[in-house]
Amino acid sequence: MEFKQTYAKELVKSLGEVIEIEEVEKLIEKPKYEEQGDLAFPCFTLAKTLRKAPHMIAHELAGSIQHSLFEKVVADGPYVNCFLQKQMVSKEVLQTIVEAGANYGSLTFGKEKTIVLDFSSPNIAKPFSMGHLRSTVIGQSLANIVEKCGYQAVKINHLGDWGTQFGKLIVAYHLWGNAEKVKADPIKELLHLYVKFHDEVENQPTLEADARLWFKKLEDGDEEALNLWKWFRDESLEEFSKIYQLLGVHFDSYQGEAFYNDKMGQTIEILNNHNLLTSSEGADVVELQEYDLPPCLIRKSDGATLYATRDLTAAVYRQQQYQFEKTLYVVGQEQSLHFRQVFLVLEKAGFEWAKELVHIPFGFILKDGKKMSTRKGKIVLLEEVITEAIELAKQNIEMKNPGLENKAEIAKMVGVGAIIFHDLKNERQNSVEFSLEEMLKFEGTTGPYVQYTHARACSILRKAEEANEKQEITGLEDSYSWAVVKLLIDFPNVISRSFQQYEPSQIAKYLLELSQEFNKYYSRVKILTNDEQLESRLALVQSVTIVLNEGLRLLGLQAPEEM
Ligand code: ARG
Repeated sequence: MEFKQTYAKELVKSLGEVIEIEEVEKLIEKPKYEEQGDLAFPCFTLAKTLRKAPHMIAHELAGSIQHSLFEKVVADGPYVNCFLQKQMVSKEVLQTIVEAGANYGSLTFGKEKTIVLDFSSPNIAKPFSMGHLRSTVIGQSLANIVEKCGYQAVKINHLGDWGTQFGKLIVAYHLWGNAEKVKADPIKELLHLYVKFHDEVENQPTLEADARLWFKKLEDGDEEALNLWKWFRDESLEEFSKIYQLLGVHFDSYQGEAFYNDKMGQTIEILNNHNLLTSSEGADVVELQEYDLPPCLIRKSDGATLYATRDLTAAVYRQQQYQFEKTLYVVGQEQSLHFRQVFLVLEKAGFEWAKELVHIPFGFILKDGKKMSTRKGKIVLLEEVITEAIELAKQNIEMKNPGLENKAEIAKMVGVGAIIFHDLKNERQNSVEFSLEEMLKFEGTTGPYVQYTHARACSILRKAEEANEKQEITGLEDSYSWAVVKLLIDFPNVISRSFQQYEPSQIAKYLLELSQEFNKYYSRVKILTNDEQLESRLALVQSVTIVLNEGLRLLGLQAPEEM
């Protein structure tokens, strides 16, 4: 809805050729206070061009603008404030949203372009950590946002399924492993073996060499090594998929580090051809002195490749495969050096598109102010945490709405939604304090609060359906509905902003605000009164359900119609 554009057009019309319409649009802002209207145009920039004081310009402009969509246009010091014609504007807005449904807010600037998202990416044979949870939740939401902007999203789970640790695991399995135990509780048992290896290597240093040997075998395609590795990988994936299922997350590809095993030779060749490789204590590195960074290690002295080698190779492969416009790597901030190195090496190797690789870092999950860790034995098993959230949600529902049908299903939507929303409501670089109790509250700044607001709006529509036959939407004029309508108008901008900043939090915050305004409206206005504005009020309620539903979906939450 182009009210801003309409205003810009009118401003340019009365200004003449002195300024471009795009520029005017960029300058138009939201006034600080409600009493100042809906759109404000500051005249400071024009003062130079027109050689006139800003408040003079504002005064003249205000007197010259008239439009049927504007109730009035007034000068306020150096600003020209526009008051939209509430009834006409709300009528148009509500009609548009009701008609567009879930498509409302969809943007087209990404059309026919692809964005790759590399996220979640846990390490096999290790627990799915809190960091991986954040990556999964943020990555999934960014994928939804990217698609909403018209792009094709390719979601890749770059599994940590390669590296010397698998040599260690194979050795440990040979010495102390038990197939039944692994099958019964794969991650726990494999982690146990891995930890035991590290304990035992203190007394038995030769284990280290055995492990290297087994990893070498694995890299060379030895059948026994490969079979064990594949088995560990399959069992781990099955465990991870339980979490993905709970979260409702899907990937287009699980090509992780191992996938690049036979492709790294080409990468090394490319680096060689560009004279980028130098030898350092027998290892091959790419120097990054000119950027004040430590060298990027490409190949160890024993020939083994590294995490970075695989990331370099993956980037090249994905560019060939998908011709992406951008790749977003949703990985914790502790890896920012790694990604700076990888991106710079690709740039040095002459890949133009290396500039379009973006690391999307995020903060930690904290418990009582301390980093929640999955290492050192005390594993927090994520699946258990999620199950607990669902259980708590169920208790809440049992208390509030004991008669509800399919409680189990809705408890899942609420419990999982609470975790996701709690993660996404703050800017991703911040750390998140993990408190199940806090995130599950039905009031305050939580996912369940937004879901509850949505369900409440749905219930009004259900009641209305019984009572009335359809009439025309004529628009609304009161200030409570206007506050809601203005937020509804803003939804497409919010999406665009959340994409520009790679910040799902923009959407989460917006949904909280919309919920608050709607609840205010709900408590002040008798929605179901049978008068000539009934249809418009219902359209407002319906528009709110559409936007809340779609906003929640973009974050990765479901929106039950009852709860
Ligand atoms: N597996 C890695 C870890 O758990 C994350 C991988 C992130 N993606 C990437 N392309 N490096 O730390």
